[in-house]
Amino acid sequence: MQRLTNRQILLGITGGIAAYKSAELTRLLKGAGADVQIVMTPAATEFITPLTMQALSGNPVHLHLLDPEAEAGMGHIELAKWADMVLIAPASADFMARMDSGQGNDLLTTLCLATEAPIVLAPAMNQAMWRDQQTQKNAASLQAKGVRLLGPGVGEQACGDTGPGRMLEPLDIAEQTAALFDRGLLSGKQVFITAGPTREALDPVRYISNHSSGKMGYALAEAAVDAGALVTLISGPVNLPAPTRCKRIMVQSAEDMLEASLQNIDQCDIFIASAAVADYRPVSVAEHKMKKGNEEIMELHLVKNPDIVATVAAQQNKPYTVGFAAETRDVVSYAQGKLERKNLDLIIANDVSRSDIGFNSDDNAVTVVSHQEVKQLPLSSKRQLASKLIEIIAAAEQKGDN
Ligand code: C5P
Repeated sequence: MQRLTNRQILLGITGGIAAYKSAELTRLLKGAGADVQIVMTPAATEFITPLTMQALSGNPVHLHLLDPEAEAGMGHIELAKWADMVLIAPASADFMARMDSGQGNDLLTTLCLATEAPIVLAPAMNQAMWRDQQTQKNAASLQAKGVRLLGPGVGEQACGDTGPGRMLEPLDIAEQTAALFDRGLLSGKQVFITAGPTREALDPVRYISNHSSGKMGYALAEAAVDAGALVTLISGPVNLPAPTRCKRIMVQSAEDMLEASLQNIDQCDIFIASAAVADYRPVSVAEHKMKKGNEEIMELHLVKNPDIVATVAAQQNKPYTVGFAAETRDVVSYAQGKLERKNLDLIIANDVSRSDIGFNSDDNAVTVVSHQEVKQLPLSSKRQLASKLIEIIAAAEQKGDN
Protein backbone atom coordinates (compact mmCIF):
# COMPACT_ATOMS: atom_id res chain seq x y z
CA MET A 1 0.00 0.00 0.00
CA GLN A 2 1.23 3.51 -0.82
CA ARG A 3 -1.67 5.18 0.93
CA LEU A 4 0.48 7.29 3.23
CA THR A 5 2.58 9.01 0.60
CA ASN A 6 3.80 12.37 1.91
CA ARG A 7 1.95 11.93 5.22
CA GLN A 8 3.97 13.11 8.21
CA ILE A 9 3.42 10.81 11.15
CA LEU A 10 4.82 11.42 14.58
CA LEU A 11 5.04 8.00 16.22
CA GLY A 12 5.12 8.13 20.00
CA ILE A 13 6.34 5.05 21.86
CA THR A 14 5.67 4.61 25.56
CA GLY A 15 6.93 2.00 28.01
CA GLY A 16 5.44 -1.45 27.49
CA ILE A 17 6.50 -4.80 26.13
CA ALA A 18 4.52 -4.12 22.93
CA ALA A 19 7.14 -1.45 22.14
CA TYR A 20 9.03 -4.09 20.20
CA LYS A 21 6.13 -4.10 17.70
CA SER A 22 6.69 -0.40 17.05
CA ALA A 23 9.74 -1.37 14.99
CA GLU A 24 7.53 -3.32 12.57
CA LEU A 25 4.93 -0.56 12.66
CA THR A 26 7.57 2.01 11.64
CA ARG A 27 8.65 -0.23 8.77
CA LEU A 28 5.04 -0.55 7.59
CA LEU A 29 4.32 3.19 7.84
CA LYS A 30 7.51 3.97 5.92
CA GLY A 31 6.67 1.27 3.38
CA ALA A 32 3.28 2.93 2.83
CA GLY A 33 5.05 6.17 1.98
CA ALA A 34 4.92 8.08 5.28
CA ASP A 35 7.66 10.22 6.72
CA VAL A 36 8.03 9.11 10.33
CA GLN A 37 9.53 10.99 13.27
CA ILE A 38 9.82 9.06 16.51
CA VAL A 39 9.40 10.26 20.07
CA MET A 40 10.16 7.82 22.88
CA THR A 41 9.42 8.17 26.57
CA PRO A 42 12.28 7.18 28.91
CA ALA A 43 10.39 3.96 29.80
CA ALA A 44 10.08 3.04 26.12
CA THR A 45 13.87 3.04 25.77
CA GLU A 46 13.99 0.22 28.34
CA PHE A 47 12.12 -1.98 25.86
CA ILE A 48 13.59 -1.01 22.49
CA THR A 49 16.62 1.08 21.67
CA PRO A 50 16.45 4.53 20.07
CA LEU A 51 19.15 3.34 17.68
CA THR A 52 16.83 0.65 16.27
CA MET A 53 14.06 3.19 15.84
CA GLN A 54 16.42 5.70 14.25
CA ALA A 55 17.64 3.13 11.74
CA LEU A 56 14.07 2.15 10.82
CA SER A 57 12.59 5.65 10.64
CA GLY A 58 15.63 7.20 8.98
CA ASN A 59 15.37 10.16 11.38
CA PRO A 60 17.00 10.97 14.72
CA VAL A 61 14.80 9.86 17.62
CA HIS A 62 13.43 12.54 19.95
CA LEU A 63 13.84 11.68 23.61
CA HIS A 64 13.94 14.74 25.87
CA LEU A 65 11.95 17.91 26.28
CA LEU A 66 14.79 19.96 27.65
CA ASP A 67 17.56 18.97 25.25
CA PRO A 68 19.22 22.09 23.79
CA GLU A 69 20.76 20.13 20.93
CA ALA A 70 17.46 18.58 19.86
CA GLU A 71 15.64 21.87 20.28
CA ALA A 72 18.22 23.48 18.01
CA GLY A 73 17.29 20.88 15.36
CA MET A 74 13.54 20.31 15.32
CA GLY A 75 12.16 21.82 18.51
CA HIS A 76 9.11 20.43 20.22
CA ILE A 77 6.72 23.08 18.90
CA GLU A 78 8.06 22.62 15.39
CA LEU A 79 7.62 18.86 15.74
CA ALA A 80 4.04 19.33 16.97
CA LYS A 81 3.28 21.50 13.94
CA TRP A 82 5.09 19.16 11.55
CA ALA A 83 2.85 16.20 12.34
CA ASP A 84 -0.19 15.38 10.16
CA MET A 85 -1.02 12.82 12.81
CA VAL A 86 0.31 11.85 16.23
CA LEU A 87 0.13 8.08 16.61
CA ILE A 88 1.07 6.62 19.97
CA ALA A 89 1.71 2.89 19.90
CA PRO A 90 1.96 1.38 22.40
CA ALA A 91 0.08 3.78 24.67
CA SER A 92 0.51 2.67 28.29
CA ALA A 93 -2.04 3.14 31.08
CA ASP A 94 0.28 5.67 32.68
CA PHE A 95 0.60 7.65 29.47
CA MET A 96 -3.17 7.71 28.95
CA ALA A 97 -3.65 8.96 32.52
CA ARG A 98 -1.07 11.70 32.09
CA MET A 99 -2.42 12.73 28.72
CA ASP A 100 -6.01 12.82 29.94
CA SER A 101 -5.11 15.03 32.85
CA GLY A 102 -3.40 17.48 30.50
CA GLN A 103 0.12 17.01 31.85
CA GLY A 104 3.15 18.14 29.92
CA ASN A 105 5.83 16.50 32.01
CA ASP A 106 7.75 14.89 29.17
CA LEU A 107 8.29 15.46 25.46
CA LEU A 108 5.43 13.24 24.28
CA THR A 109 2.70 14.65 26.55
CA THR A 110 3.90 18.16 25.71
CA LEU A 111 3.65 17.40 22.00
CA CYS A 112 0.10 16.11 22.49
CA LEU A 113 -0.81 19.40 24.15
CA ALA A 114 0.88 21.47 21.47
CA THR A 115 -0.28 19.69 18.33
CA GLU A 116 -3.38 20.46 16.31
CA ALA A 117 -3.07 17.19 14.42
CA PRO A 118 -5.41 14.30 15.19
CA ILE A 119 -4.13 12.05 17.98
CA VAL A 120 -4.51 8.30 17.74
CA LEU A 121 -3.65 5.84 20.52
CA ALA A 122 -3.08 2.10 20.34
CA PRO A 123 -3.40 1.12 24.01
CA ALA A 124 -1.36 -1.82 25.28
CA MET A 125 -1.36 -3.08 28.83
CA ASN A 126 -2.19 -5.98 31.10
CA GLN A 127 -5.88 -6.92 30.98
CA ALA A 128 -6.52 -5.94 34.62
CA MET A 129 -4.91 -2.56 34.02
CA TRP A 130 -7.10 -2.02 30.95
CA ARG A 131 -10.24 -3.05 32.87
CA ASP A 132 -9.31 -0.82 35.81
CA GLN A 133 -12.03 1.74 36.42
CA GLN A 134 -9.69 4.70 36.22
CA THR A 135 -8.12 3.50 32.94
CA GLN A 136 -11.60 3.02 31.48
CA LYS A 137 -12.55 6.53 32.61
CA ASN A 138 -9.39 7.94 31.04
CA ALA A 139 -10.04 6.09 27.78
CA ALA A 140 -13.64 7.37 27.61
CA SER A 141 -12.57 10.90 28.48
CA LEU A 142 -9.82 10.91 25.83
CA GLN A 143 -12.30 9.67 23.24
CA ALA A 144 -14.76 12.37 24.25
CA LYS A 145 -12.01 14.91 23.54
CA GLY A 146 -11.64 13.51 20.02
CA VAL A 147 -8.67 11.20 20.58
CA ARG A 148 -9.14 8.04 18.55
CA LEU A 149 -8.38 4.67 20.10
CA LEU A 150 -7.32 1.72 17.95
CA GLY A 151 -8.04 -1.43 19.95
CA PRO A 152 -6.86 -2.80 22.26
CA GLY A 153 -7.25 -6.35 21.02
CA VAL A 154 -8.15 -9.37 23.09
CA GLY A 155 -5.91 -12.38 23.57
CA GLU A 156 -2.86 -13.81 25.24
CA GLN A 157 -0.59 -11.30 26.93
CA ALA A 158 3.15 -11.20 27.56
CA CYS A 159 2.51 -11.59 31.31
CA GLY A 160 0.60 -14.86 30.75
CA ASP A 161 -2.88 -13.37 31.27
CA THR A 162 -5.57 -13.51 28.61
CA GLY A 163 -8.04 -10.72 27.96
CA PRO A 164 -8.37 -7.23 26.51
CA GLY A 165 -5.28 -5.03 26.48
CA ARG A 166 -3.07 -6.44 23.72
CA MET A 167 -1.81 -3.87 21.28
CA LEU A 168 -3.33 -4.39 17.82
CA GLU A 169 -0.97 -5.95 15.31
CA PRO A 170 1.25 -3.45 13.47
CA LEU A 171 -0.46 -4.20 10.15
CA ASP A 172 -3.89 -3.40 11.63
CA ILE A 173 -2.57 -0.17 13.11
CA ALA A 174 -0.89 0.86 9.85
CA GLU A 175 -4.03 0.13 7.82
CA GLN A 176 -6.35 1.87 10.24
CA THR A 177 -3.99 4.85 10.31
CA ALA A 178 -4.06 5.03 6.51
CA ALA A 179 -7.86 4.79 6.53
CA LEU A 180 -8.02 7.77 8.88
CA PHE A 181 -6.38 9.90 6.20
CA ASP A 182 -8.82 8.82 3.52
CA ARG A 183 -11.32 11.58 3.00
CA GLY A 184 -14.43 9.66 2.17
CA LEU A 185 -18.06 9.71 3.13
CA LEU A 186 -17.25 7.51 6.09
CA SER A 187 -13.86 9.01 6.85
CA GLY A 188 -12.69 7.84 10.25
CA LYS A 189 -15.96 6.06 11.08
CA GLN A 190 -15.82 2.59 12.62
CA VAL A 191 -18.09 0.21 10.74
CA PHE A 192 -18.80 -3.36 11.86
CA ILE A 193 -20.30 -5.72 9.29
CA THR A 194 -21.52 -9.27 9.86
CA ALA A 195 -21.47 -11.52 6.80
CA GLY A 196 -21.99 -15.05 5.58
CA PRO A 197 -23.75 -17.96 7.25
CA THR A 198 -23.26 -19.37 10.72
CA ARG A 199 -22.61 -23.03 11.42
CA GLU A 200 -24.30 -24.63 14.38
CA ALA A 201 -22.52 -27.82 15.37
CA LEU A 202 -24.43 -31.07 15.95
CA ASP A 203 -21.36 -33.17 16.63
CA PRO A 204 -17.65 -32.87 15.75
CA VAL A 205 -18.34 -33.44 12.03
CA ARG A 206 -21.87 -32.15 11.35
CA TYR A 207 -23.58 -28.80 11.50
CA ILE A 208 -26.71 -26.87 10.56
CA SER A 209 -26.11 -23.97 8.18
CA ASN A 210 -27.48 -22.19 5.09
CA HIS A 211 -26.42 -21.19 1.59
CA SER A 212 -25.35 -17.61 2.27
CA SER A 213 -22.23 -16.82 0.24
CA GLY A 214 -21.25 -13.71 2.18
CA LYS A 215 -20.86 -11.78 -1.10
CA MET A 216 -23.13 -8.90 -0.11
CA GLY A 217 -21.42 -8.36 3.26
CA TYR A 218 -17.94 -8.56 1.72
CA ALA A 219 -18.94 -6.08 -1.02
CA LEU A 220 -20.27 -3.74 1.68
CA ALA A 221 -16.98 -4.06 3.59
CA GLU A 222 -15.00 -3.07 0.50
CA ALA A 223 -17.32 -0.17 -0.26
CA ALA A 224 -17.08 1.06 3.35
CA VAL A 225 -13.26 0.85 3.24
CA ASP A 226 -13.29 2.82 -0.01
CA ALA A 227 -15.44 5.43 1.72
CA GLY A 228 -12.74 5.84 4.36
CA ALA A 229 -14.22 3.75 7.18
CA LEU A 230 -12.30 1.56 9.61
CA VAL A 231 -14.05 -1.71 8.93
CA THR A 232 -14.34 -4.81 11.08
CA LEU A 233 -15.82 -7.67 9.09
CA ILE A 234 -17.23 -10.42 11.29
CA SER A 235 -17.58 -13.34 8.96
CA GLY A 236 -19.03 -16.82 9.12
CA PRO A 237 -17.38 -19.54 7.02
CA VAL A 238 -17.27 -18.41 3.38
CA ASN A 239 -15.03 -18.98 0.37
CA LEU A 240 -14.06 -15.37 -0.11
CA PRO A 241 -10.68 -13.71 0.36
CA ALA A 242 -10.46 -11.09 3.11
CA PRO A 243 -10.93 -7.61 1.64
CA THR A 244 -7.77 -5.57 1.94
CA ARG A 245 -7.48 -2.75 4.48
CA CYS A 246 -10.14 -4.24 6.70
CA LYS A 247 -9.99 -6.26 9.89
CA ARG A 248 -11.66 -9.65 9.48
CA ILE A 249 -12.74 -11.84 12.38
CA MET A 250 -13.72 -15.36 11.32
CA VAL A 251 -16.41 -17.07 13.40
CA GLN A 252 -18.45 -20.25 13.20
CA SER A 253 -21.60 -20.12 15.30
CA ALA A 254 -24.17 -17.41 16.04
CA GLU A 255 -22.91 -17.25 19.61
CA ASP A 256 -19.32 -16.65 18.35
CA MET A 257 -20.64 -13.99 15.99
CA LEU A 258 -22.46 -12.24 18.80
CA GLU A 259 -19.35 -12.26 20.99
CA ALA A 260 -17.19 -10.84 18.19
CA SER A 261 -19.84 -8.21 17.38
CA LEU A 262 -20.01 -6.95 20.94
CA GLN A 263 -16.23 -6.69 21.28
CA ASN A 264 -15.45 -2.95 21.16
CA ILE A 265 -19.07 -2.18 20.21
CA ASP A 266 -18.79 1.10 22.10
CA GLN A 267 -16.33 2.23 19.41
CA CYS A 268 -18.64 1.28 16.55
CA ASP A 269 -20.42 4.07 14.65
CA ILE A 270 -22.33 1.96 12.14
CA PHE A 271 -23.31 -1.72 12.49
CA ILE A 272 -24.47 -3.55 9.37
CA ALA A 273 -25.91 -7.04 9.88
CA SER A 274 -25.81 -8.84 6.56
CA ALA A 275 -25.10 -12.30 7.99
CA ALA A 276 -27.62 -15.08 7.54
CA VAL A 277 -27.57 -16.17 11.16
CA ALA A 278 -29.06 -19.57 12.00
CA ASP A 279 -32.20 -18.94 14.03
CA TYR A 280 -31.74 -22.10 16.09
CA ARG A 281 -28.85 -24.31 17.24
CA PRO A 282 -28.79 -27.82 18.68
CA VAL A 283 -29.51 -27.82 22.41
CA SER A 284 -26.28 -29.70 22.96
CA VAL A 285 -23.31 -30.65 20.80
CA ALA A 286 -22.50 -34.38 20.88
CA GLU A 287 -18.95 -34.98 22.05
CA HIS A 288 -18.44 -37.80 19.52
CA LYS A 289 -19.78 -38.38 16.03
CA MET A 290 -23.41 -39.47 16.31
CA LYS A 291 -23.97 -43.04 15.10
CA LYS A 292 -26.71 -44.13 12.75
CA GLY A 293 -29.35 -46.04 14.75
CA ASN A 294 -32.18 -48.34 13.69
CA GLU A 295 -34.87 -45.67 13.96
CA GLU A 296 -36.29 -44.20 10.73
CA ILE A 297 -36.92 -40.79 12.22
CA MET A 298 -34.45 -38.82 14.24
CA GLU A 299 -35.44 -35.87 16.35
CA LEU A 300 -33.23 -32.87 16.90
CA HIS A 301 -33.79 -30.51 19.79
CA LEU A 302 -33.02 -26.95 18.93
CA VAL A 303 -32.80 -23.80 20.98
CA LYS A 304 -33.19 -20.24 19.72
CA ASN A 305 -30.00 -18.32 18.93
CA PRO A 306 -29.46 -14.80 20.23
CA ASP A 307 -30.50 -12.10 17.78
CA ILE A 308 -27.20 -10.34 17.07
CA VAL A 309 -28.46 -7.17 15.41
CA ALA A 310 -31.24 -6.73 17.99
CA THR A 311 -28.69 -7.15 20.80
CA VAL A 312 -26.49 -4.48 19.22
CA ALA A 313 -29.49 -2.18 18.74
CA ALA A 314 -30.39 -2.61 22.41
CA GLN A 315 -27.02 -1.25 23.58
CA GLN A 316 -27.15 1.97 25.54
CA ASN A 317 -25.03 3.93 23.05
CA LYS A 318 -26.19 2.02 20.05
CA PRO A 319 -24.42 2.53 16.73
CA TYR A 320 -26.45 3.43 13.64
CA THR A 321 -27.85 -0.06 13.06
CA VAL A 322 -28.71 -1.57 9.70
CA GLY A 323 -30.31 -4.97 9.14
CA PHE A 324 -31.22 -7.10 6.15
CA ALA A 325 -34.48 -8.87 5.51
CA ALA A 326 -34.62 -11.74 3.05
CA GLU A 327 -38.28 -12.34 2.30
CA THR A 328 -40.31 -14.37 -0.17
CA ARG A 329 -43.53 -12.29 0.03
CA ASP A 330 -44.88 -9.02 1.46
CA VAL A 331 -41.28 -7.84 1.43
CA VAL A 332 -41.82 -4.25 2.55
CA SER A 333 -44.32 -4.91 5.32
CA TYR A 334 -42.21 -7.72 6.83
CA ALA A 335 -39.17 -5.45 6.62
CA GLN A 336 -41.05 -2.64 8.39
CA GLY A 337 -42.04 -5.09 11.13
CA LYS A 338 -38.40 -6.09 11.66
CA LEU A 339 -37.27 -2.47 11.65
CA GLU A 340 -39.57 -1.78 14.62
CA ARG A 341 -39.13 -5.09 16.46
CA LYS A 342 -35.33 -5.07 16.34
CA ASN A 343 -35.04 -1.30 16.97
CA LEU A 344 -33.09 -0.79 13.72
CA ASP A 345 -32.43 2.49 11.94
CA LEU A 346 -32.57 1.07 8.44
CA ILE A 347 -33.38 -2.26 6.85
CA ILE A 348 -32.43 -3.53 3.42
CA ALA A 349 -35.01 -5.94 2.10
CA ASN A 350 -34.74 -8.33 -0.78
CA ASP A 351 -37.07 -10.78 -2.40
CA VAL A 352 -35.36 -14.15 -2.24
CA SER A 353 -38.18 -15.86 -4.14
CA ARG A 354 -36.56 -14.49 -7.30
CA SER A 355 -33.87 -16.78 -8.68
CA ASP A 356 -31.87 -13.98 -10.37
CA ILE A 357 -31.00 -12.23 -7.10
CA GLY A 358 -30.21 -13.02 -3.49
CA PHE A 359 -28.20 -15.60 -1.63
CA ASN A 360 -25.66 -17.02 -4.05
CA SER A 361 -25.99 -14.73 -7.01
CA ASP A 362 -23.65 -11.89 -8.01
CA ASP A 363 -26.57 -9.49 -8.48
CA ASN A 364 -29.14 -8.08 -6.15
CA ALA A 365 -32.10 -5.68 -6.18
CA VAL A 366 -33.22 -4.32 -2.87
CA THR A 367 -35.67 -2.05 -1.14
CA VAL A 368 -34.27 0.28 1.50
CA VAL A 369 -36.75 0.80 4.32
CA SER A 370 -36.26 3.44 7.00
CA HIS A 371 -38.68 4.98 9.47
CA GLN A 372 -39.14 7.83 6.96
CA GLU A 373 -39.27 6.22 3.55
CA VAL A 374 -39.24 3.18 1.29
CA LYS A 375 -36.81 3.32 -1.62
CA GLN A 376 -36.36 0.74 -4.39
CA LEU A 377 -32.88 0.23 -5.82
CA PRO A 378 -32.73 -1.39 -9.25
CA LEU A 379 -31.05 -4.70 -10.10
CA SER A 380 -27.27 -4.29 -10.19
CA SER A 381 -24.12 -6.14 -9.25
CA LYS A 382 -23.56 -6.64 -5.52
CA ARG A 383 -20.48 -4.40 -5.76
CA GLN A 384 -22.38 -1.50 -7.35
CA LEU A 385 -25.24 -1.99 -4.98
CA ALA A 386 -22.85 -2.01 -2.02
CA SER A 387 -21.44 1.41 -3.01
CA LYS A 388 -24.93 2.83 -3.37
CA LEU A 389 -25.99 1.35 -0.01
CA ILE A 390 -22.91 2.74 1.73
CA GLU A 391 -23.74 6.18 0.28
CA ILE A 392 -27.30 5.94 1.61
CA ILE A 393 -26.19 4.64 5.02
CA ALA A 394 -23.48 7.33 5.37
CA ALA A 395 -25.92 10.11 4.53
CA ALA A 396 -28.61 8.77 6.89
CA GLU A 397 -26.13 8.27 9.74
CA GLN A 398 -24.81 11.80 9.28
CA LYS A 399 -28.32 13.24 9.34
CA GLY A 400 -29.09 11.20 12.45
CA ASP A 401 -32.10 9.58 10.74
CA ASN A 402 -33.66 6.62 12.40
O1 C5P B 1 -35.32 -12.04 11.76
P1 C5P B 1 -34.50 -12.21 10.53
O2 C5P B 1 -33.52 -13.34 10.61
O3 C5P B 1 -35.27 -12.25 9.25
O4 C5P B 1 -33.69 -10.84 10.44
C1 C5P B 1 -32.67 -10.62 9.54
C2 C5P B 1 -31.71 -9.60 10.07
O5 C5P B 1 -31.38 -9.87 11.43
C3 C5P B 1 -30.41 -9.63 9.33
O6 C5P B 1 -29.86 -8.33 9.37
C4 C5P B 1 -29.58 -10.62 10.15
O7 C5P B 1 -28.19 -10.41 9.96
C5 C5P B 1 -30.02 -10.28 11.55
N1 C5P B 1 -30.01 -11.40 12.49
C6 C5P B 1 -29.11 -11.40 13.53
N2 C5P B 1 -29.11 -12.42 14.45
C7 C5P B 1 -29.99 -13.43 14.33
C8 C5P B 1 -30.92 -13.45 13.29
C9 C5P B 1 -30.89 -12.42 12.37
O8 C5P B 1 -28.30 -10.47 13.62
N3 C5P B 1 -29.97 -14.40 15.24
